[in-house]
Parts: sequence; C-alpha cells; structure tokens
Amino acid sequence: MTVSSLELEQAFAADAFVLDPEVLHLNHGSFGACPRAVLEAQAALRARLEAATMRWFVLEYQDALDRARAAAAAFVGADPAGFVFVANATHGVATVLANVLARAELAAGDEVLTTDHEYRACKNAIDRAAATAGAQVVIVPIALPARDPAAAVEALVARVTPRTRLVLVDHVTSPTALTLDIAALARALPPRAALLVDGAHAPGQLDLDVAATGATYYTGNFHKWTCAPKGAGFLWVAPARREGFHPLVTSHGATLSTAARSRFRLEHDWTGTHDPSPYLCVPVAITTIASLGGGWPRVRERNRTLVRAMRDDLCAALGADPIDQTPDTPDAPGGSMAAIAVTLPDGADHLAVERTLLERGVEIPIVSHPGSPWPLVRISAHLYNRRSDASRLAAALTAAGVHGRRIS
Ligand SMILES: Cc1ncc(COP(=O)(O)O)c(C=O)c1O
Repeated sequence: MTVSSLELEQAFAADAFVLDPEVLHLNHGSFGACPRAVLEAQAALRARLEAATMRWFVLEYQDALDRARAAAAAFVGADPAGFVFVANATHGVATVLANVLARAELAAGDEVLTTDHEYRACKNAIDRAAATAGAQVVIVPIALPARDPAAAVEALVARVTPRTRLVLVDHVTSPTALTLDIAALARALPPRAALLVDGAHAPGQLDLDVAATGATYYTGNFHKWTCAPKGAGFLWVAPARREGFHPLVTSHGATLSTAARSRFRLEHDWTGTHDPSPYLCVPVAITTIASLGGGWPRVRERNRTLVRAMRDDLCAALGADPIDQTPDTPDAPGGSMAAIAVTLPDGADHLAVERTLLERGVEIPIVSHPGSPWPLVRISAHLYNRRSDASRLAAALTAAGVHGRRIS
C-alpha cells in the first residue's frame, strides 16, 4: 500500500477532531485526541445512564460492556475471556505487579528485567514491587542510534539468568519511539520468566495481535492511537494465569456465584461505581477512525509514512539525526512516532523548553531520559497532521533555541 505525497500534504480529518486550530499538535502519543463523533457518542451514553441510573447499571451495563469488550478485544487480537478494561496502561502494569506479589511469583534474590527506555511510571512500579519482594531490577541498555531491530531483543535475552522471573518491556518505547519485536522476545524467554508487555502506544499504531505476541500479560491504551475517550485501557492475561488473578480493588465479584461468568470476569468487570463511558466508546472510536482514514491498514500506513517524512524534513531543517536508523523496508518495525536528537539552549532544562513551546502554541514533548545520551524531540502523526507541520515545528524549535544534533 503506497501513500501519495499529496496525501501527506493534506490533513485527512482535521475538522473531525475538536483540536484548537491555533495550536500545532505534534504530540498525539502522550494523550491522544478524541474525534467529535466519539465525544458525541460518549455524551449520549452518559445522558442515557444519568436518565435512570438503576435501569442503566442493572439492565444495560453488563451487555454493553460485553459488546464493547468483544469489539475491543477483536481489534487487538485478544480472546475476550482474558480481556478486561482498565483505566489506562499504568493501571494495567500495577494490577499485574500486585498479582505477581500476591502469588509470591517474585521472591528475594529474583530478578526483574527491563530496558533503560522504560516509561517512568512503570519503571517506578517495578522498582517498588521488586523492593517489596527483595528482588532486583536489572536494566538492560538499548543502544542508540538503533540500527538493527533485533539488537534490543538480543540485549535483553543476553541478560536472562536462572533468577529472571519477570520481564517488563514497552511494545513501543515511550521516550524513544522504538518498536520492539515482542514475539521474538517471548520465543527466547524461558518459561519461568513471565513477560509483561506495556503496549500503551500499540493499539491503533501497530497491527496488534496480542495472542500472537506470546506475552504472559499485555496492557494497552485505546485513548492514545485508537482515539477513544480518556480512561480506556485494557489488560489481557494469558489463560494459564487467569485463575486467581485479581483486580487492584476487591469488590462484589470476589464472592458472587461463578455459574454464569468466570471469577476473572466477575471480579474485573465491577470494581465499584465509575463512569464506564470511555470503555463503551472504544467500538465507536475504532469505526470512526477507520471511516475517516479509509480503513485501519490505510490509517496506520499513512501515519507511518507521514511521521517518517516529517522526521526527515525536521532533520534536514535542523541538521539533526533520527535515533531510529533501521532500514525502511516494508516489514521494518515502526509506527506513528519518531524521535530526533537535539541540543537545548545552554543550561536550559528540557521541561522549561517544553513549557515555552506550549506557551507559544506548540505541543511537542522535549525528552530527557536515561535511555538517551541526548535530549530528544519526539513527534507523532495522526489523521489531523500534515507534512508541513514539520516545517512549522522546525521554525518554532529554532526560535526557542533548540538545534539539531548529529549522532551518526
Ligand atoms: C510505554 C508507556 N506506558 C505507559 C504509559 C502511560 O499511559 P497512561 O497514562 O494512559 O497509563 C505511557 C504513556 O505515554 C507509555 O508511553
């Protein structure tokens, strides 16, 4: 499937979103953006719920949740029996770690493996879980610039020991936008090492097939690249680990009869009163984005092509290098984000620079992370972006004293 240069110049669906036209939006990755049609569906759902709360929660909620789960699980290639909605990927990772601790699957002297590109909140969570168990967190560096898609997996596998009990990796690394080969990693791990995949960025950005990844636990977000309302994440647990796997909050399901549903579902589907509309709007988000962009394969391919074109334009304008230098073959890994190396103004803090740009109407993450020797600018491309956004960003960065950096 090829994407024409004309298509890259046009924002596919800018009007379909409620984005402020005065702002340059190049950070879909952090918080997503929800189309108008999805927000309207959410408002209608909330109105129905509030019109008769008992009717809705008693008569309608469970069926609505099951329908949403079926569509959402199919979208990510997961079997619905092991799939539950959670508010976000941070919550998904915390739920898995709580279960690992409760089931004593991590003990003193054990090792948890992760990379130096791990998202900070989830790294904090494994640090805390490991400290509770008396286990050690082993951090594996992923070398930059990345030139070989297999290198990250090889580096991780080389650090597996008889004490490795848990491996936590981002499917798409948060600070550096690298896509890891999860299936290759799963194949190489010994059965005693559980694989927890943080796929916060994967649904909608990658052609995701959770079952095929071989993960033990997989969590992800629909509020990022699938464009669902905020607070729509999921957690999938492999069949062998479902029994006795509890949500973070104990509720009615812990003691209800399991005649109609599994304990896993009973427990996770009701953890107390909350607004389930983000979960229930995942199906409408899936169909809305597909119809705006000509089907999901086309959306993904267009975003992938666009982000690479924007990355290259930005590098040319600033004299910078991308940090992902894997060859751009049709089956090369990669999604809708990219990062380039930059130099910040003398003595400037990256967050202060990011704030300055925000005040000037430019939404772009300026990343400083242990996984990168240099500060980075991470760009995102979704349907409302166009190629010329890169030249606007280059001008804004230059005006803020951010320059390109050569790293090759
Ligand atoms: C790899 C990764 N994990 C987790 C998260 C957190 O997502 P959320 O805030 O929706 O839990 C992010 C957010 O960018 C991420 O990149």
